[in-house]
Amino acid sequence: MPTKYLLREDQIPRHWYNILADLASPPAPVLHPQTRKPVGPQDLAPLFPMAIIEQEMSTRREVPIPDEVRGALALWRPSPLFRAERLERAIGTRSHIYYKYEGVSPSGSHKPNTAVAQAFYNAKEGVKRLATETGAGQWGSSLAFAGALFGLEVTVYMVRISYEQKPYRRSMMQTWGAKVFPSPTDKTNAGRGILAKDPRSNGSLGIAISEAVEDAATHDDTKYSLGSVLNHVCMHQTVIGLEAQEQMKLAGEHPDVVIACHGGGSNFSGIALPFVRDKMNGRNVRLLAAEPSSCPSLTKGVYAFDYGDTVGMTPIVKMHTLGHDFMPPGIHAGGLRYHGAAPLVSRLLHDGLIEAVAYPQRACFEAAVTFSRSEGIIPAPESSHAIKAAVDEAKKADAEGKSRVILFNLSGHGHFDLGAYDQYFAGKLEDFEYPREEVERSMANLPRVEV
Ligand SMILES: Cc1ncc(COP(=O)(O)O)c(C=O)c1O
Repeated sequence: MPTKYLLREDQIPRHWYNILADLASPPAPVLHPQTRKPVGPQDLAPLFPMAIIEQEMSTRREVPIPDEVRGALALWRPSPLFRAERLERAIGTRSHIYYKYEGVSPSGSHKPNTAVAQAFYNAKEGVKRLATETGAGQWGSSLAFAGALFGLEVTVYMVRISYEQKPYRRSMMQTWGAKVFPSPTDKTNAGRGILAKDPRSNGSLGIAISEAVEDAATHDDTKYSLGSVLNHVCMHQTVIGLEAQEQMKLAGEHPDVVIACHGGGSNFSGIALPFVRDKMNGRNVRLLAAEPSSCPSLTKGVYAFDYGDTVGMTPIVKMHTLGHDFMPPGIHAGGLRYHGAAPLVSRLLHDGLIEAVAYPQRACFEAAVTFSRSEGIIPAPESSHAIKAAVDEAKKADAEGKSRVILFNLSGHGHFDLGAYDQYFAGKLEDFEYPREEVERSMANLPRVEV
């Protein structure tokens, strides 16, 4: 039995799949943060190049991938699909487990799939600099790499606690030529406002987004780039699922369940959306998003209109949200700490097309260690949520006397996260269930909209 299923370089997908074309009714409107009226392309123009704005709103089912972007993707794509036979043996399951491995990219995760596309379109429209935020550093390093490929300067606002805990992610970004600042900074009104209230703020993704958006909005040569959540980002990631569909054909199996971890939703979208299309066309397949119980936007969040950032500078979107003033607990080791979920993923959950599950971090690390000791790869803490879900699905099938075909996305390796593994082995990681009362408290602060 083959261990991995590989595609040739000329089998890198030629189109992204845009699920907006297949939704039963149009998505909820995106609202301007001040007027609270639906935004048009001109409202987004200070932040994004026109090609990206068009993609964000497009209902074309298949969007061609430019040759320059396919050329950049060819540096690491097509990524391999593995049959996790050793993991199956380690947990003693009859189910077949497959994983698509996105850790082969230069920055070590799925994030460059959209970073190279975004850098390409910005460079083509004459943009000189991109501003962005990063939490654990995966997105910032991916955009730094993509900026280097397409000749763009990159400024990264990195959540302060990660800036301090992950110096080598910063070194990576600097090697690719990016400037990195610990957020909140004193460089933006948003950052100064937060520091005035809490000079020792650990920062959060929501705050760093406010800073990057302000930077882009106040500099003519600069645009903003987001690594998750938005429609175009989810669409750029569909190369993962499109390749996986071809690879599962090589393996001669159809997945019964497709699993990915969920932070802002682009990773889950990447592997799941092409299979959601199969489901809409009548195939029996489940799609399962795995999130941390310390930041459970899909399983405890409310489906409501909210800001994408903390300060209220971004458009207001309808999504599953914990509230834009969510502050992630500092004890959590991995990424996946965003208060909201991609509007697309939220809509699919609301429509009952996908499912979500939340796990505490120690159980995820336990699954990650079992995986490392059988399959070899040391997973990113984010990806360990998908492994935990895959192992649980296999065990559930065994208990029911069934054998299932399980496919999950291993979104990245954990080579820069060994500090978190150290903490896990030292027994210093704590589990944390984000309280429902906190969600209810934050709901009082949602923007009031009339839709
Ligand atoms: C390795 C890895 N996997 C998954 C995610 C979550 O991605 P998304 O925001 O697209 O859900 C991240 C986020 O940084 C990540 O670094």
